Amino acid sequence: MDKFSIQGGARLEGEVSTSGSKNAALPVLAACLLTEEPVVLHRIPKVRDIGTMKKLLRHAGAELEELGNGTVRVQACAIRKPEAPYDLVKTMRASSLVLGPLAARTGRARVSLPGGCAIGARPINLHVAGLEQLGARLEQSHGYIEAKVEGRLQGTQIRFERITVTGTEDLLMAATLAEGETVLENAAREPEVTDLAELLTKMGARIEGAGTSAIRVQGVEKLHGAEHTIIADRIEAGTFLMAGAITGGDLVVRDCQPEHLEELTAKMRQAGATITEEGPGALRVRGSGRLRAVDATTAEYPGFATDLQAQYMALMTQAQGISFITETIFENRFMHVLELARMGANIRIEGSQAIVAGPSPLSGANVIASDLRASASLVLAALVADGETVVDRVYHIDRGYEKIEEKLAAAGARIKRAGSK
Ligand code: EPU
Repeated sequence: MDKFSIQGGARLEGEVSTSGSKNAALPVLAACLLTEEPVVLHRIPKVRDIGTMKKLLRHAGAELEELGNGTVRVQACAIRKPEAPYDLVKTMRASSLVLGPLAARTGRARVSLPGGCAIGARPINLHVAGLEQLGARLEQSHGYIEAKVEGRLQGTQIRFERITVTGTEDLLMAATLAEGETVLENAAREPEVTDLAELLTKMGARIEGAGTSAIRVQGVEKLHGAEHTIIADRIEAGTFLMAGAITGGDLVVRDCQPEHLEELTAKMRQAGATITEEGPGALRVRGSGRLRAVDATTAEYPGFATDLQAQYMALMTQAQGISFITETIFENRFMHVLELARMGANIRIEGSQAIVAGPSPLSGANVIASDLRASASLVLAALVADGETVVDRVYHIDRGYEKIEEKLAAAGARIKRAGSK
């Protein structure tokens, strides 16, 4: 199993570039199952979860051709197996994104139920309820959800009980091929949903309101091929901004979309970091070395992203004062706290709130990555810790960050990967 060895204390300087968004690429790849024609996607990040989604598409019968430089051509001429097997689903919960497209295209879908997860229960009941409203019959047996559709799905009005990102994406994809109009209310407004809607529109779908909480879809009989470039990964870019700030560095984060990062950059500015736009798609962060504590509460977009909470907590360990960090999306997303505490952070958890008292000098230690974003937070802490930190189980970080150690090293971090990949 790979580990990172990080020697703390180096300021990050220079430039780092952002990859395509993992969480946009996943639904966009699943959307390729909706048509028999080829879909060409650019800027697909080379991260483990994307590898899993590609396996899922191949399993279903799609052909994938890598055209180099993050471009992939997907063609699902026929769906041989409308199924997402347990072996793939257990490594990536977003596998449930194929449920809607498979049911809509073939009238059949069999998707393994995801099990528990490090950050919370993460059920898919809202995907299932929505598909039922669209007219599918769903049954659960042997750990699988099976959907059957007689004829076409039927457009309807679906109001999500709570906001779900992949749930919105799953049902949006299904609705494109339904008969008549579907309205998704209380829909997720994340940029990844909007990106998916853009691709679907290029494929011939009729969608209005993506990016708002009411999405209206006029179903069509068929979708066709298209070409699309994935948006920048706002979580990766945000992680880099915080890496620059925590090290008191001067770092330009290129190829990002600053408009997707406004909640984070506002907090970081309030905390004392200087963040400026350096031309289109680039943000420069300068850490003053004197950060102030600023509270954060996670929320659905455009609120503070839960996927940046762990990294922000690492940043706040270096800020003067007490910050209250509240997690409202997932019930167990504080797995990084104990590991940060082992490095010397002063953090107390009270229910869904972490109370961070800073600044704390951190010292290098052996720590274990428990999930994707928790791992990123440990890497940030290690960048300012005294001495060496060894982060174990970095396969978690490889699920969603493309070559993070190479990107950080190029900006001056002393980080090395050890172990065989
Ligand atoms: N929920 C339900 N029932 C459902 C679906 C969701 O109760 O059917 C609950 C969840 O348990 C959670 C809340 O609703 O408490 C929100 O979950 P959501 O469905 O929005 O999460 P997701 O779609 O499974 C995506 C991202 C996550 C990100 C969340 C929240 C992808 C592939 N994953 O997950 O990304 O944290 O939205 O923004 O888009 C990550 O990249 O590290 C990651 C975990």
